[in-house]
Amino acid sequence: MLENDPLAAFWMPFTANRAYKATPRQLVAAKDMHYTASDGRQVLDGTAGLWCVNAGHCRAPIAAAIAKTAATLDFAPTFQLGHPTAFELASRVAALMPAGLDRVFFTNSGSESVDTALKIALAYQRARGQGGRTRFIGRERGYHGTGFGGTSVGGLVNNRRAFGALLPGVDHMRHTHDLARNAFTRGMPAHGTELAEDLERLVGLHGADTIAAVIVEPMAGSTGVLVPPAGYLERLRTICNTHGILLIFDEVISAYGRLGTATAAELFGVTPDIITMAKGLTNAAVPMGAVAVARGVHDAIVEGAPDGIEFFHGYTYSGHPLAAAAGLATLDLYKAEGLFERAASLSEYWSDAVHSLKGKRHVIDLRNIGLVAGIELEPRPGAPSKRATELFHAAFDSGLLVRATGDIIALSPPLIVEKPQIDEMFGKLADLLATID
Ligand SMILES: Cc1ncc(COP(=O)(O)O)c(C=O)c1O
Repeated sequence: MLENDPLAAFWMPFTANRAYKATPRQLVAAKDMHYTASDGRQVLDGTAGLWCVNAGHCRAPIAAAIAKTAATLDFAPTFQLGHPTAFELASRVAALMPAGLDRVFFTNSGSESVDTALKIALAYQRARGQGGRTRFIGRERGYHGTGFGGTSVGGLVNNRRAFGALLPGVDHMRHTHDLARNAFTRGMPAHGTELAEDLERLVGLHGADTIAAVIVEPMAGSTGVLVPPAGYLERLRTICNTHGILLIFDEVISAYGRLGTATAAELFGVTPDIITMAKGLTNAAVPMGAVAVARGVHDAIVEGAPDGIEFFHGYTYSGHPLAAAAGLATLDLYKAEGLFERAASLSEYWSDAVHSLKGKRHVIDLRNIGLVAGIELEPRPGAPSKRATELFHAAFDSGLLVRATGDIIALSPPLIVEKPQIDEMFGKLADLLATID
């Protein structure tokens, strides 16, 4: 790489840097359902950016709220001080959560939300006299961001193997992906409820009195869209209740309408003790995450503490004024346009469109829920993930943004997507599947 190469300095995240810089694809603008590429082409956004721009791009009310706040309160500390927008947003978030999860801690990303949730779990167990509960249980194929906590409870091998021993005392349940029994399922797979018993196995192995919390994505997104088997989350909830283990749902992707409801917890009818979120909270216009916590967990830590700071944790930018303003404007927009309900009402049409790819070359599974789809391709022998990467590039070059993860193509469009745009996405993918090797 030449030193005067203008692309050299930016070490890009989760990117094949050498390949990218040899053939860069850049985005220069966005509006509603489309990006504009640097060569002027319009690219239909099939992924809401990175599962985050749920109301569509560059929405005027959000941009206006950010601009106004930047000119009136650029920054305000939330350590021992505060500003009204952060309090208002916390109340609005609490109102969207399942009953009881009405205490909200702000972060700046999904990764920070996960690490915050894990620390809350430890602090809670200690506060109630169970300080021996220091273990976390995650799940194979889980993705919980890139902090040391999230990496430790995560279960994607490439994200873990370069980073040593990670947090001690973490174990993983088996994942729920079962192509043999569940391929081409619409919605929740029928098989796999029994995999929740893995938690009982780990309780038997380690002892419940060593386990602080279990963390799962109710719908696993980044690993390639794994919808929970019917009954699975209920069973996890029951086992956690039996053993005094906190249940954390990582809803960084699934919160804010992606599945047709405010949260996956609402859709699946299972209430965890803690929900982590980010992405759709501000429509991704300003980075922000949050952790919604059950009142009892919060109170055990806060009410049980001596005078002074109750929880020694936080970020300079927790509840940042710009992010809080963007969050309020985003939640207003979701409500005004009924976007969660819109996602729910489109989900059947979406499901039909997804499953229209059945029988297409390379396709070994199709799965969907809400406005999410996973299209699993047969890996090319000796070259795992190459086929999906090529499809991602070919789609982009033909004006469609999809996401490739392993040999799976994931789709999660903004919730403002129109039916003809859904047709365009799956029509293009059908054509491209016929052409790639
Ligand atoms: C379930 C889940 N948790 C955590 C994260 C990490 O979020 P961030 O990239 O904002 O740190 C993601 C990101 O995709 C995610 O899908």
